[in-house]
Amino acid sequence: MPLFEVLGSGGEKTAVVIDLGAAYTKCGFAGETGPRFIIPSEIQRPGLQQPVKVVQYNVNTEELYTNLKDFIHMLYFRHLLVNPRDRRVVIIESILCPSHFRETLSKVFFKHFEVPSVLFAPSHLMSVMTLGINSALVMDCGYTETLVLPVYEGIPVLSAWEALPMAGKTIHKELYSLIMEQCKVDTDSGTGHSLPTVLGSIPEDVVEDIKVRTCFVSDMQRGLKIQEAKFNMDGTAERPAPPPDVDYPLDGEKILHIKGSLRDSIAEMLFEQDNEEKSIATLVLDTLVKCPIDTRKVLSENLVVIGGTSMMPGFLHRLLAEIRLLVEKPKYCDALATKNFRIHSPPSKPNCTAWLGGAIFGALQDILGSRSVSRDYYNQTGRIPDWCSLSSPPPESVYDPGKTPPPLMKRAFSTEK
Ligand SMILES: Nc1ncnc2c1ncn2[C@@H]1O[C@H](COP(=O)(O)OP(=O)(O)OP(=O)(O)O)[C@@H](O)[C@H]1O
Ligand SMILES: [Mg+2]
Repeated sequence: MPLFEVLGSGGEKTAVVIDLGAAYTKCGFAGETGPRFIIPSEIQRPGLQQPVKVVQYNVNTEELYTNLKDFIHMLYFRHLLVNPRDRRVVIIESILCPSHFRETLSKVFFKHFEVPSVLFAPSHLMSVMTLGINSALVMDCGYTETLVLPVYEGIPVLSAWEALPMAGKTIHKELYSLIMEQCKVDTDSGTGHSLPTVLGSIPEDVVEDIKVRTCFVSDMQRGLKIQEAKFNMDGTAERPAPPPDVDYPLDGEKILHIKGSLRDSIAEMLFEQDNEEKSIATLVLDTLVKCPIDTRKVLSENLVVIGGTSMMPGFLHRLLAEIRLLVEKPKYCDALATKNFRIHSPPSKPNCTAWLGGAIFGALQDILGSRSVSRDYYNQTGRIPDWCSLSSPPPESVYDPGKTPPPLMKRAFSTEK
C-alpha cells in the first residue's frame, strides 16, 4: 500500500485539549509538547468597546451558552482549523468549577459542535501526570484564585482543598490603583504630570504588561521588612531601599515612571496574612494538616506549583522560605512532623502544566475512550457525571450494564484503568 494511504487512513485523530482559564485559554492537540495557542478567554461583541470575558459564573445560562458557543467557534475555526466532529475533546477544569458552567459547556460541545466525546480532567491531577509521579501537593496560582489540592496515588483528596481569592487579578487591581495614585507621566508638553490628568485610565492588559515586565517577588527578609514598614503607622520601621524606577512607554509618546517601591512590593499581598491568618503559604500547610497523617511526608516532599502568577520572578523561592518559616510556628509545629519541603520543576511553563498533563492523557487513546463521556451517553441522559452529584450513573454503565462500575470518585479522577 502506498505510504500516503497509510498516513491518511485508519486510527483515531488526535484529541483537542482545551484549558479554559479565567484569563487565558490554552488549546492544542494531544500528544504535543505545548499548546498551539494561548489566547485571552474573551470575545469581542459588536457595539461593545470592552471584550466580554467568557468564564463568568454569575451570568444567566443563555448568555453563558452564547458566549461559550462563540468562543469555542473561534477556537476551532480561527485557531485550530479542524472539524469538531472528528476529534474527542479533553477539557482541563478546576474542581471548583460550578456545575452549571460545565453543564453549559458540555451542551455547547455536544449539541452545537457535535463532538464525539468530552473528558473533564481536573487541572491539579493532570499537572501531576506531567512528572510521572502519583502523589503531589498541587498549588494553582492563576488569575482568579489560588487553590491547593493534594493528589494521593492518583486520586485528588477533595476533603483537604484550601483556596484563597488571591492571584493575578488581585495583583492587577492593586497595581492599577497604586500606579494611578503614585506614578508620574512625561508627555511632549511637560514632565511630572499625574497619570489621571493625562489618561483617564489604563486598560488591564497594560497593567498586566507592566507587572510582567517590571515587578518581582522580594525575598523573605526584604518582604517582611516591607510589610512591617507598611503596617507600622508610627513610622519607626524603615523600608528597605527600593529598586530603581523603570520608564514604561505608554501609547508610543508618553513615558510612565514606574516607581521602584511598587516593583518589589506588589506581590507582598500574596504572602501577607489576612485577618484569618491566611496567606498562600499557609494554604499549603493547612492542606497538609487536613490530609491523613501517613500521606503528609510524601505530599510535602512533592510540591507542584502551577498557574501563571507563579511565574513572577522570585515566587517559588519566596513560597518555600515562607513555608519553612511558618512550619516552625506553634500552630503547625505540633501538628506537622514533616519539615522537608521540595518543589518539582515540571517540563513546561507553570501556566501550561495542566494543559500538558491533559495532552499526555489525551494521547492514551484506549484509556481516553473509556474515561470520556460520549455523545450517545449525553444524548440519552442529557447530563454529564459530576463528582458532587452522585445521582447520575457513570458512562460505562450505559454500554456494559452487567459490569459493576468502579466508585464514582475513583472513576472520575483516577488515572489508572
Ligand atoms: N511570565 C509571567 N510573569 C508573571 N505573571 C505572569 C506571567 N505569565 C502570566 N502571568 C500571569 O498569570 C495569570 C494567568 O495565569 P493562568 O494562565 O494560569 O490563569 P488562568 O488559567 O487563565 O486562570 P484561572 O486558573 O484562575 O482560571 C495572569 O494574571 C498573568 O498576568
Ligand atoms: Mg488555570
